[in-house]
Amino acid sequence: MGRFDGKKGLVLGVANDHSIAWAIAKEILAEGGQIGFSHLPDRPDDERQRNRRRVSQLTDSQPNAKFLVPMDVSSDEQIAAVIDRAKQEFGTIDFLVHSIAYAPMEDLKGETTNCSREGFRIAMETSAYSLLAVGRYARGILTSDSAILTLTYFGGEKVVPGYNIMGVCKATLDACVKYMAFDLGPAGIRVNAISAGPLRTLAGRGAGVEDMLGLYEHMSPMARNITHEEVGKAGAWMLSKESLGITGEILHVDAGYNIMGSPGRLLDLVPKQAS
Ligand SMILES: NC(=O)c1ccc[n+]([C@@H]2O[C@H](COP(=O)([O-])OP(=O)(O)OC[C@H]3O[C@@H](n4cnc5c(N)ncnc54)[C@H](O)[C@@H]3O)[C@@H](O)[C@H]2O)c1
Repeated sequence: MGRFDGKKGLVLGVANDHSIAWAIAKEILAEGGQIGFSHLPDRPDDERQRNRRRVSQLTDSQPNAKFLVPMDVSSDEQIAAVIDRAKQEFGTIDFLVHSIAYAPMEDLKGETTNCSREGFRIAMETSAYSLLAVGRYARGILTSDSAILTLTYFGGEKVVPGYNIMGVCKATLDACVKYMAFDLGPAGIRVNAISAGPLRTLAGRGAGVEDMLGLYEHMSPMARNITHEEVGKAGAWMLSKESLGITGEILHVDAGYNIMGSPGRLLDLVPKQAS
């Protein structure tokens, strides 16, 4: 018996086998859950359909991966089409994973103060508003005992140099989680986020993960980085019946990094000043 036997849901945001969404999906599939997936649409001139192929290479071998459809969250029509497909396939759904973020590189890399108007709009729309939009379309098919999960980062709570405009997006996303938890609570729909420590992924690379990995190793209470599997397991738990009663929560899966009020053991590496 798996925890997700008889459960059906959507996982939005798998790009490849390093994606956090895939780490969560693997746990759910291993425990009997059925999943519909989306992928970022391919450009019409990309004959090799690379975005689709990278995801289908993972899902094709999974009997419980029930469909794979394109979806760009900047399009209401495409979000509605994914939800319609889930309705046809499953009727209702028990869980939804939103694991999506994007900011134009020139805006992400520069000072937050210098973010362009258009870059801000795109980053916010893709990385924060999309949770509201997906939740709005999905609420009609989410059961009265269901859960939505998104992925956030500590850079939305405190300043993390290099995370820049994405930190502003994550602060908004965190607030969306709480307000949605209030809105959807009476319908029995829980809304939570996992705040993951740095992991090597496509999005992570753009957001400066390489610099953060060393920092976490020295500063986190556990003196190490987290793994994809740890986030996958925590994500599945947040979507399962084992976490009933938890909503509007930002759960840190970060080896404890967020509790630190000083650089901690990292200070051991700094030469002591002569008194
Ligand atoms: N990697 C990390 O260190 C880390 C840490 C904390 C939080 N997160 C968050 O986890 C989530 C998943 O990122 P990841 O690290 O697995 O990287 P990833 O690149 O594998 O996933 C990001 C996903 O967003 C999708 N996406 C981007 N723009 C989109 C759009 N317009 N429409 C639809 N989908 C779109 C991409 O196709 C991709 O599947 C993001 O919200 C990210 O901010 C990542």
